[in-house]
Amino acid sequence: MTQAAAEEESEITLPSDQDGSGRMLGDEELALLRKVIESGTLTSTKGTAVSAVERRFAEMVGCDQAVACSSGTTAIHAAVVAIDPEPGEEIVTSPITDMGAIAPILYQGAIPVFADVDPRTCNITAETIEPCLSERTRAIIVTHLFGNPAEMGPILDLARRRSIPVIEDCAQAYLARSGGRYVGTLGAIGCFSLQQGKHITAGEGGLVVTDDPELARRTRLFVNKAWGYGDANPDHYFLALNGRMTELQGAVTLAQLDKLADGIERRRAMARRLTGRLADLPGIETPWIAADAEHVYWRYCLWVDQGQLPGGSPALGAGLKQHGIASAPRYIQKPAFQCAVVRDQRTFGNSRFPFTLARPEAIDYAPERFPGTFDGLERILVLPWNERYTEDHVDHIAFAIRSQHAGLRKDLVDG
Ligand SMILES: Cc1ncc(COP(=O)(O)O)c(C=O)c1O
Repeated sequence: MTQAAAEEESEITLPSDQDGSGRMLGDEELALLRKVIESGTLTSTKGTAVSAVERRFAEMVGCDQAVACSSGTTAIHAAVVAIDPEPGEEIVTSPITDMGAIAPILYQGAIPVFADVDPRTCNITAETIEPCLSERTRAIIVTHLFGNPAEMGPILDLARRRSIPVIEDCAQAYLARSGGRYVGTLGAIGCFSLQQGKHITAGEGGLVVTDDPELARRTRLFVNKAWGYGDANPDHYFLALNGRMTELQGAVTLAQLDKLADGIERRRAMARRLTGRLADLPGIETPWIAADAEHVYWRYCLWVDQGQLPGGSPALGAGLKQHGIASAPRYIQKPAFQCAVVRDQRTFGNSRFPFTLARPEAIDYAPERFPGTFDGLERILVLPWNERYTEDHVDHIAFAIRSQHAGLRKDLVDG
C-alpha cells in the first residue's frame, strides 16, 4: 500500500450500531410510527402493531406463537416464569453472557449454575452442561453468543434424556440456524432482544417464541401482570410485572422485521470477506462454526494466541484503535460469577436469597472449574459489526489487523 492509500485508508469511519450510520432505520419505520401516533392508541392492549409483530415474527421463525415484551431481559424473565421453578431450583447457564440473562433467574428465586464454555466459541456445550446437572435442575439457558449457534444437537439430546426444558437466548442470534432450523425454535422457548445494538432494534424490546401453548400463555400473562385478558373470569393469576411492548416499539419493530433477512445476508457476506482476508495470520483464529450451524455475526470475533502474537488480544485491540476500530478484548471484563451481584450475593436486602438455598457445589466458582471461560476471555477480541459495512470497511479492518499483526510479530520474528 502506498503512503497516500494508507492515509486515505485511515480516514475511513466505520458505521456504528449506536447511531443511524449503522442502523437500518428510515421511512418504513416513520410511516408505521405515524400510523400509530395518528391512531392515538399507544398501548398494545388496544392497538394492532404489537400483535402484528407477534404474528409476523412467529411466521418468520416458524413457531406457533410469539409474545412481544419490553426488553430481552424481560423475555428471559418471562421464559423463566413460564417454566416456573421452585425457589432453590437450578437453571444451568453461561458465565459469558449479558446480566439481563442471569438476573431473571435470581428474581424468580432460582439458582444460576454456571457451565464452562468452549473457548473456541464461548458457548456452553453438552459436555460442559452435563456435570452441572442435578436433581434440582429445572432448565438450561443456552446463549448463542455473538450470533454463532451453540452445538444444539448434543445439548438437546442431553436435555431430552433428562427431561429438562431448554431456553434459547437468541438476543444476539436472529435467524441463525443450527441443524437447518432457526435458533429459538429448537428448545422449549426462545428469547430475543431489540435493544439498540442488536440485529434489529426498537431502542428496547424483546420477543419470546414457543410452540408450547402453556408456555406461551404463561409468558403472555407474565408481561401483563398476569391479568387474564380475554378470559371469562379474569384475575391476576400469579406474581407478575408489566413488561409490555408499546405500540411505538411495535411499529418500529414491524418495519425492522422486513429488513432483518437482508441485513443478516450483508453481515454474513462481509464476515466471509474478512475471514478470507485473515486466513493466513499465525496466532489469529477467525470464528469457529459448527458444521451444521449458520453464524449471523452480531459481532465478528477473533481469537488471539499471545504465544504467537506478543501482547495478545489487548495489544491487537490497542493497535486497532489507532485505525478507528473500537474492539473489545475480553468482551465482558469478567465472567458473570465474578460480578458483585453473584459473587457477593447482593439480592434482596441482606437476605442473600436465593443463594441461601443453593447446594455448595452449585455456587462453587473456583477458577479451575472454568478453564474454557478464562481461556476464551483471555484470547477473544470482539470486533463491532453491522449490516452497513461495505467491502471498503472490511478491507480497512483487514488492513488494520494485518498491519498490527505484522508490528506485534516483528520482535518475535526478529528475535
Ligand atoms: C445474550 C444476551 N441476553 C440478554 C440480553 C438482554 O437484553 P436487553 O438488553 O434487551 O434486556 C442481551 C443484551 O442486551 C444479550 O446480549
